[in-house]
Amino acid sequence: MLLRVNAINDETPSIKTFELVDPEGLDLPVFTAGGHVDLTLPDGQVRQYSLCNAPAERQRYLLGVLRETNGRGGSRQMHERVAVGDLLPVSMPRNNFPLDGEATRHLLIAGGIGVTPLMAMAHRLRALGADFVLHYCTRDAAQTAFRDLISGDGMASRVRLHHDGGVPGSGLDVAALLATVVPGTHVYCCGPAGLMAAVKAASDHWPAGQIHFEHFAAPVGVAVLGGQDGFEVEIASTGAVYCVPPDCSILSVLLSEGVLVDSSCEAGVCGTCTTRYLSGEPDHRDFVLSNVEQREHVMVCVSRAKSARLVLDL
Ligand code: FES
Repeated sequence: MLLRVNAINDETPSIKTFELVDPEGLDLPVFTAGGHVDLTLPDGQVRQYSLCNAPAERQRYLLGVLRETNGRGGSRQMHERVAVGDLLPVSMPRNNFPLDGEATRHLLIAGGIGVTPLMAMAHRLRALGADFVLHYCTRDAAQTAFRDLISGDGMASRVRLHHDGGVPGSGLDVAALLATVVPGTHVYCCGPAGLMAAVKAASDHWPAGQIHFEHFAAPVGVAVLGGQDGFEVEIASTGAVYCVPPDCSILSVLLSEGVLVDSSCEAGVCGTCTTRYLSGEPDHRDFVLSNVEQREHVMVCVSRAKSARLVLDL
């Protein structure tokens, strides 16, 4: 889709929201809470941005973008080069971080810009009249996005703000919050690596299916690239076989051989490079696919193979 930038607002000194609409005023494709779109930047790079408005709104997509000074440059382009009236290529919405339909209570834990998918969840859960709480961790009030929204009717009683003043560990007590496993409660977390790691550590005694993470980057301390051994990949449609050395990803080998596979994050967190495989045993290293999905699909940007050969449905 080619969508028009209808409005840009400063949420904080470093976070802007971008409202995207259909140029003809048509309804946009439905999205679900926790979903995101791939957006093509002015220089052609692709980035994923969570949709943070209410899924019931059909006339607009709202994206929140943190200007990251040490990032790969995507957020700087959004902040500096994108203007109201621009047309931007945007993918259909996808969702790697959905609400669990079986949950009886939802505990949303957001840090910084990680609040964006959780805002859409909060909108949806409020509309459903569901039982939920949003814990929103930021440095201080000035760095807190969506302040009007979260202090408004119907939301204020559901939101707990935690400011740490820039001192890690002095904000939300994640260990205390997750000390007791509550049947029916599902936990959703998105935020900086430190918060994600703290929630993961504090929820280790919870059933895995009740804890959900949305990663913007590979978790700290997790090696996603490289392997001990090389292996082969076979392209099912042509029978071509390529060797993947220990220090190369499947994706890089495919691209160097002219086999086109879409990719974006190259860190196993966005889902863009998902590829079906037909035989062989992958060594899954992504942070998106469920156990069920991993039986048929593999993220070729980070995953490797335990078998000598992996046959890809390409
Ligand atoms: S490119 Fe993002 S998961 Fe592979």
